Amino acid sequence: MNPKTIARDGVNSMLGAFNLKLVRRKAYYADYRDYIPLQEMVDGAQQAGMSVGDYIDTRHNVPGATQATIDQMAALGAFNTKIDRVCEIGPGSGRYLEKIVQAYRPSYYEIYETADEWADWLIEKYGVTRQPADGTTLAATPSNSIDLVHNHKVLPGQPSVVILRYFLEMMRVVRKGGKIAFDIVTEDCMRDDIVDAWLSTGAGYQHYPCLVPKQFTIDFFCSRGFSFDGDFLIPMKPGMTNYLLFTKVESV
Ligand SMILES: C[S@@+](CC[C@H](N)C(=O)[O-])C[C@H]1O[C@@H](n2cnc3c(N)ncnc32)[C@H](O)[C@@H]1O
Repeated sequence: MNPKTIARDGVNSMLGAFNLKLVRRKAYYADYRDYIPLQEMVDGAQQAGMSVGDYIDTRHNVPGATQATIDQMAALGAFNTKIDRVCEIGPGSGRYLEKIVQAYRPSYYEIYETADEWADWLIEKYGVTRQPADGTTLAATPSNSIDLVHNHKVLPGQPSVVILRYFLEMMRVVRKGGKIAFDIVTEDCMRDDIVDAWLSTGAGYQHYPCLVPKQFTIDFFCSRGFSFDGDFLIPMKPGMTNYLLFTKVESV
């Protein structure tokens, strides 16, 4: 038996007297389908006197990045349509959801989230509908039924084929005149200094950050009945991520 196991068993036999047991803390930043630990974020936000979203921005990215994203989406017309039925993939803590619900009061907000504890929390806090997330499709959502489908920092962690599947699914579920907004890591996000930062910090893991060509993505949507509304960059430490927005012109 290895020394760590012997030590753990020794501690556990002492803790057993108090009905306690030592368990290994789940490592985060190991599997992209998990998210940062909920309780740690909720407690940290409370201690800092911040909302959970603002706390996550401050601790894990750049303060104000979430609001800047919403503002830039608005500038590109993401909300210039009826926003009554929204679908979000991988909302995590709901930091974007919170702002959209507050500003546009959609009557229906569904999520596809792989991290159970955050999904449960969002159901309780915002009354969202959780759809079964298989990690690649929006299978529970009818075609042409959604006004806005969006996601943030989700596609950069997926393999390229999963990204393509999610592209096609977003195209399917959004209604004519509806909007799609998402971020991917394109060539615009990979200046030399940023490449160095990804390599030197060791911040990447699994497929993250998966590089997807921007022009390919624009062509992928525009050849399937969508117009390109524009793009912008937002910090995603230690680099940047590229938001792209589209409007459905024809039903596909
Ligand atoms: C980096 S976090 C971003 C969370 C949130 N969108 C934000 O920006 O604060 C990625 C989120 O996507 C979820 N996720 C990862 N892979 C997924 C997949 N294939 N389908 C749906 N959700 C996924 C994770 O559980 C996590 O909540």
